[in-house]
Amino acid sequence: MNKPAGRYLRSGKVKDIYDVGEARLLLVYTNRLSSHDVMLADEIPHKGEVLCRLSTYYFSKCSISGIETHLIENPSPDQMLVKKLFLIPIEVIGRNYVYGSFWKRFQRHEVKLPEGTDPILAAKLREPIVEFTTKLESKDRLITEKDISTYGWLTPDEIDEIRTVALRLNNMMLEDAERAGFILADFKVEFGKDENDKIVLIDEIGTPDGCRFWEKSKYQPGRAQDSFDKQIVRDYLEKEKGWNKNPPKPGTKLKEPILPDQLVQKTSQRYIEAYERLTGEKF
Ligand code: C5P
Repeated sequence: MNKPAGRYLRSGKVKDIYDVGEARLLLVYTNRLSSHDVMLADEIPHKGEVLCRLSTYYFSKCSISGIETHLIENPSPDQMLVKKLFLIPIEVIGRNYVYGSFWKRFQRHEVKLPEGTDPILAAKLREPIVEFTTKLESKDRLITEKDISTYGWLTPDEIDEIRTVALRLNNMMLEDAERAGFILADFKVEFGKDENDKIVLIDEIGTPDGCRFWEKSKYQPGRAQDSFDKQIVRDYLEKEKGWNKNPPKPGTKLKEPILPDQLVQKTSQRYIEAYERLTGEKF
């Protein structure tokens, strides 16, 4: 990859971000991979390109459906030029199944299930749920709509607008997942505001890094489900490296690669397969 233009700003788990002036940012999708909240030193070929192209696929669908997004153009298949916006400091979570932090809260009796939903792990929710968490705190924390407006982040009408958009995005992704033989268990999206206070979809959408996709043919409620993309890496680390009992501390960044070549290639193939099945396009 050529050195990206612009001033380096920061790196997330996967993306490197550059300020390229004129209120635009360049997002560079890398091949970095994390598992068990640990950044691995191994790189997965084509992963960055898969994530960038999948997000671009959904952003393009959004623009056809009248949902404004931050995408301007793709200077290359693993790069996205986007509008620089004011970040709304919340993460918007859409859920179709009882899983992850929602399941944990249910077990602690902190949340009720919609009527008719089985009270078991990975049960399908009778209706989708939208939740909000904080974004800029060290740990994501569930936040009420009342707090979001009390902090002055969004008005009640804007919260309604975001919930409606999140449900429309859910329908858009469910359609593809259904056709692809995947279950879309849940997802996260983020929003910003432009200079006219218009709400705009930012970050990324529809990627295996921000959604839980399960293989539909292997779905069995009542137990943990395999995530399509990373499960083979998780299994290897747990079985071969003993990470089931003793993983490195969350947030650790490993310095040396630890995955066998064959596993790296297989993981890369899985990301590509996810892209092809979801979009119906050749990678
Ligand atoms: O862990 P939890 O069940 O709250 O996650 C819900 C959804 O949000 C999952 O699809 C997860 O991948 C996504 N998520 C994310 N980034 C975060 C937190 C959650 O992509 N920081």
